[in-house]
Amino acid sequence: MSPAIAKPLLSDLVAQSGQVPSSHIRPVGDRPDLDSVDHESGSGIPLIDLKQLDGPDRRKVVEAIGSACETDGFFMVRNHGIPEAVVEGMLRVAREFFHLPESERLKCYSDDPKKAIRLSTSFNVRTEKVSNWRDFLRLHCFPLENFVDQWPSNPSSFRQVVSTYSTEARALALRLLEAISESLGLERGHMVAAMGRHAQHMAVNYYPPCPQPELTYGLPGHKDPNAVTLLLQDGVSGLQVQRNGRWVAVNPVPDALVINIGDQIQALSNDRYKSVLHRVIVNSESERISVPTFYCPSPDAVIAPADALVDGDHPLAYRPFTYQAYYDEFWNMGLQSASCLDRFRPIHQRAD
Ligand code: OGA
Ligand code: NI
Repeated sequence: MSPAIAKPLLSDLVAQSGQVPSSHIRPVGDRPDLDSVDHESGSGIPLIDLKQLDGPDRRKVVEAIGSACETDGFFMVRNHGIPEAVVEGMLRVAREFFHLPESERLKCYSDDPKKAIRLSTSFNVRTEKVSNWRDFLRLHCFPLENFVDQWPSNPSSFRQVVSTYSTEARALALRLLEAISESLGLERGHMVAAMGRHAQHMAVNYYPPCPQPELTYGLPGHKDPNAVTLLLQDGVSGLQVQRNGRWVAVNPVPDALVINIGDQIQALSNDRYKSVLHRVIVNSESERISVPTFYCPSPDAVIAPADALVDGDHPLAYRPFTYQAYYDEFWNMGLQSASCLDRFRPIHQRAD
């Protein structure tokens, strides 16, 4: 672990003042405009029951997943198979971690995005001009045995609880990748095979209450660079997704997980499935905890769509690239609404 560094975590900023510090204030014109957000009833995104995924009605569930990937890029799943006690344990240990004294948490601090295990704040404090209202712990978690010994050991149950959760999350990610493959008319194992040896990262996001939520973001609009994201959130709202140019609030549904398509599935599906912009808004009343699992190709995997998805009407959307090259580009670029994928379009299709 690196030594403690001067950059304070957010939780201390909050304690010090009832106002958002200038380091976290977005320029006018780049603020959330909370009044124009759509608050739909229900979850705000399709809600899919996975109960029948391994039964006689598999085809129907697969079709529902395919259509959500095509139109929304986001959906929720219930009956996803991760036991309730495992989910509750994950949220509890996340809360306990962020409630530890700052001196204890700072043992994991690093601002180097290349580190496999680190606590940090905002998104990338090395490159961004305005910070975000978020602290986060990032953990690599597959293959588990390569990383678990480097994870925090305080709270004392952290490693055991998070190992169990991340193993369950991986099993669900694999089931979803199979369903996604089938929904594209491909072999069930296609996506799993296309992603090489696989990797899995997890973030534990902590968004403290914010005195002026209209001035800043938990996370500004971005698309996830990985293949598929499984988001566990506590009961507090904050996630919003973009649909037809408008922001739509995703309302937490008890026992459901949010799934979203990342840039790699967009590329592997040759643009049929969409990696969609999303952002996180903070609020003045309560802290919010979310735990995204980022399921990824291994760094050396070469990302290119199946031949069956490329034809005269659907020319190759991206030059084949390694996931490592993509990931480096993503972190260098910073969170912004411009899609990192656009940088990998064939030269003649590029807008920039
Ligand atoms: C992310 C993300 C959403 C949330 O970490 O990439 O989009 O609700 N998180 O925290
Ligand atoms: Ni995201």
